[in-house]
Amino acid sequence: MIPREDNEILTRVGPGTPAGEVLRRYWQPIAASAELTEETPIVKVRLLGEDLVAYRDLSGTYGMVAEQCSHRRASLAYGRVEEDGIRCAYHGWKYDCTGACIETPAEPKGSTLKDSIRHTAYPVEKLGGMLFAYMGPEPAPALPRWDVLAWEHGRRWIIKYQPLRCNWLQCMENSVDPSHLYWLHGATAHLAPMMDTYEETHDFLKFEHGIMKRRTTPPQKPGASPLMDQHPLLFPNTLRHVSHDKETGRHRHNLQFRMPIDDTNTQVIIANFEPNENEHAPADADAPVEHVEFRTGENKEGYRMDMVASQDFMAWETQGPVMDRSQEHLGLADKGLVMLRRLLREQIDIVAEGGTPMGVVAADQQPPIIELDVINERMGLMSPERRGAA
Ligand code: FES
Ligand SMILES: [Fe+2]
Repeated sequence: MIPREDNEILTRVGPGTPAGEVLRRYWQPIAASAELTEETPIVKVRLLGEDLVAYRDLSGTYGMVAEQCSHRRASLAYGRVEEDGIRCAYHGWKYDCTGACIETPAEPKGSTLKDSIRHTAYPVEKLGGMLFAYMGPEPAPALPRWDVLAWEHGRRWIIKYQPLRCNWLQCMENSVDPSHLYWLHGATAHLAPMMDTYEETHDFLKFEHGIMKRRTTPPQKPGASPLMDQHPLLFPNTLRHVSHDKETGRHRHNLQFRMPIDDTNTQVIIANFEPNENEHAPADADAPVEHVEFRTGENKEGYRMDMVASQDFMAWETQGPVMDRSQEHLGLADKGLVMLRRLLREQIDIVAEGGTPMGVVAADQQPPIIELDVINERMGLMSPERRGAA
């Protein structure tokens, strides 16, 4: 249980809010690169409470700028892309990816009006079929080259769920809440029998990129070894997961991004990778993207409770648009999320004092790949209905 004021501090994402300022120190996912095509070179993005458009100009450069035109605030989502930027459909003002206004065609020749305009713009980078934007102070740090995005030989694809109607921190607390596995997913994931021998231990280890969540289950038969799962929460808003098919030996690795749209909406985007070292086929630069609906019922207010991802979404959304943590009652099994809140609070203080929060490195100090020690000794490969389990 935490006081209401602390709950506000931990959850709000807008400009100038404590957690919003922390989230702005990290590159945030905005779309799959395959979503920006010649036919649809501009997409609306709402991120951290700001209305923006992401685009790809005719030279192949990506940009993300404020949706409302600096002239008279028409939406740039209806603009058009050109060789060097995006042009507003109303009176033709044109902006480049740095936010410079490069043309104001209705002004007299020689006008310097455009030189006084600074349109809000954020840098965009592409990696592993995903587009990321950085909304914090300059200079932008390195975009982390997570293994799932940087590995080359295998199949990569992106899953985008319908936006969730809840605050981002509810999704992240679930990632350090291993005890929900049997109760929420037990029947679907064929784990229900293990409830009878519920003796596993949960450890949470702080490491340079966040919290390593480790689950150790005692041997199920005499002489067998204990089974271990280990999945890192990458601070602040990503989970790294893997599932393993014991029959084929295949691993499916994923990064589960929980992109805060605003205080009460979150976009889950999952980047998946199946290594295929024998065939040495490089993954597509623009990984295919699949849109998955999980709402059901006449008014689309229900959840598919036979689908692991939808079970999680039910829990996160029904906690409320912004869960009121002053009304909860925590137990010892909740120690992981207590650690996450403490970690977030520490990073809030670091950023408020002008420091650099955990895991953020300068652009010229980026390692070529960040390989994470992820283990899943127990669960089988997710069927299409079960993917996205957290
Ligand atoms: S409103 Fe965009 S150019 Fe006038
Ligand atoms: Fe879950």
